[in-house]
Amino acid sequence: MKRIVSGMRPTGKLHLGHLLGAIANWVELQKHYECFYFIADWHALSTAFKASDKINANVRELMLDYLSGGLDPEKCTFYLQSHIPEIAELHLILSMITPVSWAERCPSYKDQIQELGQDIATYGFLGYPVLMSADFLAFKADLVPVGQDQLPHIELCREILRRFHFLYNREIFHEPQGLLTQYPAVPGLDGRKMSKSYDNAIYLSDAPEIIEKKVKSFITDPAKIYKNDPGHPEICNVFYFQKVYNVDQTSEIEKSCKAGTLGCVPCKKELTRVLSQALAPLQEKRKALADHPEYLDEILHAGALKARPIALQVLQEAKQAIGMNL
Ligand code: TRP
Repeated sequence: MKRIVSGMRPTGKLHLGHLLGAIANWVELQKHYECFYFIADWHALSTAFKASDKINANVRELMLDYLSGGLDPEKCTFYLQSHIPEIAELHLILSMITPVSWAERCPSYKDQIQELGQDIATYGFLGYPVLMSADFLAFKADLVPVGQDQLPHIELCREILRRFHFLYNREIFHEPQGLLTQYPAVPGLDGRKMSKSYDNAIYLSDAPEIIEKKVKSFITDPAKIYKNDPGHPEICNVFYFQKVYNVDQTSEIEKSCKAGTLGCVPCKKELTRVLSQALAPLQEKRKALADHPEYLDEILHAGALKARPIALQVLQEAKQAIGMNL
């Protein structure tokens, strides 16, 4: 069975973009592959080292989102990155053979510095795609579900492992492939990509009245000003979500919007209804889980017990290959 590795940084609550773009996909994949899903707390530290007091709380939030979104620790191996020190050790080995210029070449490095400021340009941050390579290689991942922006990191990983194989004359790693999601760019309330930093997101934990308020503020087809103007659902952000959450009525909504018989107000009301309905079971599960922090700890503990021996085996192979096996 092919192996999948994927993770997210614990930087706050998840929104619909994460659910559609990643979690829903992961939940499907866990039925057909051997999946390793983790919370990338070391990665969060690479940009949030000043706010490390929030990391624990963010790990908890992300766990609640993962689990209520359908990740099943019985079907996948679910762990906290920092609980697997073998990943960090493998990262150290990889960092020895990675030319600085390769890390500097990753587009995310310059982009993020531009966005977050020169302060984040630490040694660890520069090496973050190398750490990501260790995330894949420690479990010999075949497939890595990621967003488009992460593909250069997978490419870097392949270059590093080829260099490793060349230098130490031993083929121990697999070349991972990226696996792109069906929903790469979920639109936010203002039509830009849904993102926490744009303040245009609907969170999985948003109560129905918040969902209602947010859906009302969705930017729709600008050509549809009056209720009876014919609309263009193909460019409408509300219709984007109707297609996902209101499958049965999609074609009816499309027809009547185009015909000018459906106004945006009732259309948004309908979306609020189906969206609240879709999120209700997640929110119930989230609440139930939040009341049992000891259960959450247990899940992480069990995940680390499952993941560590695998990563240790790979680490030992790597050390053997470089000749450090006293
Ligand atoms: N870099 C990813 C992000 O910022 C998170 C991540 C870290 C990841 N390690 C990974 C994703 C390994 C997939 C596999 O979104």
